[in-house]
Amino acid sequence: MVRFTALVAAALTVLTVFAHPGHSVEEEAAERAAYRRSLDYQTLAPCAAEIKARDHKMVQRRMEQVRQLQERHGLERRSLTDVLNKDHKSTKAVTPSSPAADIFGSNSSCILQPETTEGPYYVSGELVRKDITDGQKGVPLTFDVQIIDTNTCKPISDVALEAWYANSTGVYGGVTASGNGNSGDQTNLDNPMLRGIQFSDADGIVQFSGVFPGHYTGRTAHIHVLSHHNVVTSDKSYGTIVTGGTISHVGQLFFDQSLITSVEQLSPYSTNRQTLTTNAQDGILAGEAATTDPVLNYVLLGSTVADGIFGWVTVGINSKTSKTVKAAANYDPTD
Ligand SMILES: *[C@@H]1O[C@H](CO)[C@@H](O)[C@H](O)[C@H]1NC(C)=O
Ligand SMILES: *[C@@H]1O[C@H](CO)[C@@H](O)[C@H](O)[C@H]1NC(C)=O
Repeated sequence: MVRFTALVAAALTVLTVFAHPGHSVEEEAAERAAYRRSLDYQTLAPCAAEIKARDHKMVQRRMEQVRQLQERHGLERRSLTDVLNKDHKSTKAVTPSSPAADIFGSNSSCILQPETTEGPYYVSGELVRKDITDGQKGVPLTFDVQIIDTNTCKPISDVALEAWYANSTGVYGGVTASGNGNSGDQTNLDNPMLRGIQFSDADGIVQFSGVFPGHYTGRTAHIHVLSHHNVVTSDKSYGTIVTGGTISHVGQLFFDQSLITSVEQLSPYSTNRQTLTTNAQDGILAGEAATTDPVLNYVLLGSTVADGIFGWVTVGINSKTSKTVKAAANYDPTD
């Protein structure tokens, strides 16, 4: 059985950033509320226009800084519209076994991927393995992630990159929760499907093989990724896991809408009755695409989508940061 820790939404990480040390979040909120009550809003009212103008100026200044950084690193300016409009289907003649330089080119871009939520379905204790299919039906998907350290702008080896996502009908293995398939299905707890960890090679690349993810209510098809540094591996009766170390990045990867639409027409994706959210409607994609392109480039492995997809993406991380994440459960089929 899998032991549960609390199902806590990821907003926690964000909250702790603003909380003072030795202070509870509740205390802080109460203090702020009291402070707000003590303010005389009437006297502040004439300042409203000025405050708004100053906020606007600050936003403008930050956007200009981003633009200058992008220019310095030779990067094109990106926006959600650019990302949504770009066709990520590649004309490169590559396969999952092509050399790194053929897939990623020799110049990697060096831009920090925005941090996003690990969501409510992160499970700790997952297995070190490349094939995460576990018999799941769907369009075969092999994907490479190249990890670039934004401190050096060079690929970084020996990072344990964890990936996890929902199956073709939009359900995560390893977690029972309302909104995640049949919440009464206890067999789904010891289910490691579509979850795994791989160590980056000398080119900073990890590769996973699974099936294309399905959508679920409120979310377009996506893959979660999380980077661990300095972990220790340990062999268990059911496989190898990693422990310790630090977490530097929590992000999500996406696919072209046209590709998702083609996949969704095929069984078993077409049997998914959860409401479809498109890329253009997905708030987390919008957040990431404001500064980076989190969409996988891809080629089809055969003549049709059903034959399989090979995708790749570069992710910029800051190896010096350390983040905290909340796991919904811990995978251990022996307890
Ligand atoms: C890499 O960058 C150099 C210098 O900016 C450029 O001349 C070269 O064409 C680039 N190579 C690739 C594969 O993009
Ligand atoms: C997706 O996973 C859930 C939970 O394990 C399972 O009930 C469902 O049958 C799976 N979908 C397909 C198409 O196998």
